[in-house]
Amino acid sequence: MEMITNVTEYEAIAKEKLPKMVYDYYASGAEDQWTLEENRNAFARILFRPRILVDVSRIDLTATILGFKVSMPIMIAPTAMQKMAHPEGEFATARAASAAGTIMTLSSWATSSVEEVASTGPGIRFFQLYVFKDRNVVAQLVRRAERAGFKAIALTVDTPILGRREADIKNRFTLPPHLILKNFEGLDLGKLDKTSDSGLASYVAGQIDRSLNWKDISWLQTITSLPILVKGVLTAEDTRIALKAGAAGIIVSNHGARQLDYVPATISALEEQLSLEEVEVALHDYLVCKSNSLLKRLRLPKARRSFNMKFDKASSVGEDIVARGRVSTHDNIRGRRRSKSSRQRVVALSAIEAEYIAMTEVVKEAYEYGVVKAAEGRIPVFLDGGVRRGTDVFKALALGAAGVFIGRPVLFSLAADGEAGVRKVLQMLRDEFELTMALTGCRSLKEISRDHVITEWDRPR
Ligand code: FNR
Repeated sequence: MEMITNVTEYEAIAKEKLPKMVYDYYASGAEDQWTLEENRNAFARILFRPRILVDVSRIDLTATILGFKVSMPIMIAPTAMQKMAHPEGEFATARAASAAGTIMTLSSWATSSVEEVASTGPGIRFFQLYVFKDRNVVAQLVRRAERAGFKAIALTVDTPILGRREADIKNRFTLPPHLILKNFEGLDLGKLDKTSDSGLASYVAGQIDRSLNWKDISWLQTITSLPILVKGVLTAEDTRIALKAGAAGIIVSNHGARQLDYVPATISALEEQLSLEEVEVALHDYLVCKSNSLLKRLRLPKARRSFNMKFDKASSVGEDIVARGRVSTHDNIRGRRRSKSSRQRVVALSAIEAEYIAMTEVVKEAYEYGVVKAAEGRIPVFLDGGVRRGTDVFKALALGAAGVFIGRPVLFSLAADGEAGVRKVLQMLRDEFELTMALTGCRSLKEISRDHVITEWDRPR
């Protein structure tokens, strides 16, 4: 285990150690697993713009999450049934998170109860909630979590029905007989029909309340005073609703690509970018419309619709467009108003100048569309899905996330080496993240900015 040098190396060890049914359950995504790959690939397409000669002799990684101080913005996502990975299961994860000074989120479908996990010692913990048809069960569960000292509810909203994970269907996945979904012990929900053909997955899925909707956030608020994080948001539209509904934050998540296949990678959802063509059209229409009204006011002839602006793809974004627009528009005006007085020309040009500034705003708007923009800085946006490197953490923060959660790396390291494995995963990510901060010239999370990364949809600089 000493030879392990990065997080992903644990997966091969876990694959060797675990029964195929368990490994497949942890590893797989839904259907074609396109989103599963994309969760990783999308990170790889984001590059850095490092700043040099910054004094990075001291780097502060600490973050404040819902008012709680943590050692780093890297936290543990809820993953079900951790005792299949290791006999210590959720206990080991809780201890490792606590030792690293970060937050663990316990799954509703854990193989250890909220009370048991709380008894492992101090630590900041969140409880992940699936809402079941029997709301009394839900209310009891939430109250137990609150009493056990959990600090927030992560309400999972992307699972009205379980996604189709074909390996689980082939393997007839079921919880091994010596384990139980501990939070439901003694309740009907805990007694699983292990003889059922469809196995555990469809049994528990059958208990989930498919009628769950936005109004239920208010209901949840009547049974708990804990802050509610909405887990599974992928669009700006839903972010706005979550904000209105009183969510304390959102977790941009596609459930580790286990639910709807062909949703974008989570890192791509932070800024839901428009295509270059869309930006081009937005700018063009804006310019033609605004400038024509301006020309009318100045009693100058109407601009030609194309405005002499032949956008070529590479230069059709951002300041390049603005600069080109300026040149061609000036030419246009000059050509047409030769007979006007020079004073009028100055007025025309400075008014056009103002339009360029407005245009820059249009570009900004176009690029800032997405979940982060919709959250308006009023609630924190977190992200999970495919985070495997410190560089991934940095990229998420640069695009506006307040922190990230990791899922599978915890399961695989737990399977390989129990608590020590999870500790090492957290330490490696921490070290890599610190290194990334040093090499990009950032001394604190506040200094990580949008300008430190370049995405496919950014304008050429
Ligand atoms: C999950 N996830 C999950 N989410 C949730 O809200 N409740 C749960 O019980 C589970 N269980 C679960 C089991 C397994 C095996 C996996 C892989 C995932 C989703 C999890 O919280 C998180 O969204 C993803 O795991 C993040 O992606 P990565 O880090 O696994 O790529």
